[in-house]
Amino acid sequence: MFDSQPKVIDESRQGEAIALDSSPDSGKKLYIESYGCQMNFSDSEIVASILTGAGYSTTRDEQEAEVVLINTCSIRDNAEQRVRNRLHHFHARKRRQPGLVVGILGCMAERLKSTLLEEEKIVDLVVGPDAYRDLPNLIGEVESGQKAVNVLLSREETYADISPVRLDQNGVTGFISIMRGCDNMCSFCVVPFTRGRERSRNPETIVHEAKYMFDQGYREVTLLGQNVDSYRWNITKKNEVIDPEQPTVNFAQLLEKVALAVPEMRIRFSTSHPKDMTDDVLETMAKYHNICKYIHLPVQSGSTSVLKRMNRGYSREWYLNRIAAIRRIMPDCAISTDIIAGFCGETDAEHADTISLMRNVAYDFAYMFKYSERPRTLAERKFEDDVPEEVKQRRLEEIIELQMENGKASNERAVGKTFEVLVEGPSKKSDAEWCGRNSQNAMVVFPKGDFEKGSYIHVEINACTAATLKGEVVPS
Ligand code: 5AD
Ligand code: SF4
Repeated sequence: MFDSQPKVIDESRQGEAIALDSSPDSGKKLYIESYGCQMNFSDSEIVASILTGAGYSTTRDEQEAEVVLINTCSIRDNAEQRVRNRLHHFHARKRRQPGLVVGILGCMAERLKSTLLEEEKIVDLVVGPDAYRDLPNLIGEVESGQKAVNVLLSREETYADISPVRLDQNGVTGFISIMRGCDNMCSFCVVPFTRGRERSRNPETIVHEAKYMFDQGYREVTLLGQNVDSYRWNITKKNEVIDPEQPTVNFAQLLEKVALAVPEMRIRFSTSHPKDMTDDVLETMAKYHNICKYIHLPVQSGSTSVLKRMNRGYSREWYLNRIAAIRRIMPDCAISTDIIAGFCGETDAEHADTISLMRNVAYDFAYMFKYSERPRTLAERKFEDDVPEEVKQRRLEEIIELQMENGKASNERAVGKTFEVLVEGPSKKSDAEWCGRNSQNAMVVFPKGDFEKGSYIHVEINACTAATLKGEVVPS
């Protein structure tokens, strides 16, 4: 998606906005802006599908919109602040355009429920992540002069039957949600409250969607879930089969099914959880060339005592054992992570454990955050957010600095090697260059040639920056 994604990203990851454009040029004009994780971007495609089915057409130009929907993220306070600024912006526009409908979707809608509507009065519509099928009806209510809210969470909704309207820019890489919700209750995390209980989607519909995407020209798909390793179909958490007539499917089996169904399409997935990631998944990855050799394995902290307070369900040693398993089964696999600096009660020694773990693992890429206390979470109820702001900041900077070194070293190790690259299109920086990713998810830039978007080429790497690899195309 980005041709200049830095090797290090801090808080700024939350809050990228995309505007959608899919339009047949008819019907009421809908403008959607998405913030936060990939799941939200994928949900916006479901929303676009539901509303285009009800006669709306999407636009990229907020000025011509008659309905504005903001799909929001609650994961950290600064993500919510950015959304609030946007809501005030659109609310102000209603003075000029009284018929404009402004709605809030996603995690903030679920977390704040009717507050934004009844107390702050800055939106007309509040719709939680499991209620998108109700959108046409709710927008209708707003248009007839009522305020509309649906924040019911569901134990079943997976939108399995909805074929998303693809809203990515390049037509080569896309997402499929394979499950929704999260049952983990990490103590810092608001997601279990905003996205509800974990539920997996019917594997047949996932395979069907992957094939359909391939037919549309897509060559890479990312399977999305908060914790993909706990994907299970027709089997309970206690390993009881639900319907003996039907097959059971776990995540390793799902990966294999998709890999076999679309052998010319690359498969990625996110997010893995260290406590649940099995060798089975790793062996399946190793077995299929089209499953990318890249794992995002959030560690959060390198200290066992902090991990315990975070309720992550693993220790430092367990995590390092999982890293060793990845290295053993797929020596060429890239690994990225998420790290939180300054969680409740974090001591200098505990922070030093995170630094030493980072040195030990040498991540190729990392997302790094300062702890941000979230209402209703276990941490908010049980612990004090007692690491002073300047200490959090200093620790975060130390973590970012080390990751810069690790990222640079990772890119330097790639110089001299040849990778298969999926051509995504022109590079953002120069008309003379094109870009694409290798299996390890590194962005590779190469001189423009007679390549088609979505084709596979081989690139020999001869230089790198902190963010990208550069090279020459060599015969395949
Ligand atoms: N404060 C800071 N970072 C958080 N994350 C989740 N909740 C919080 C929080 N309250 C981070 C975790 C998670 C990533 C998606 O966001 O690192 O893996
Ligand atoms: Fe949040 Fe933990 Fe679930 Fe991830 S696994 S969404 S961090 S509760």
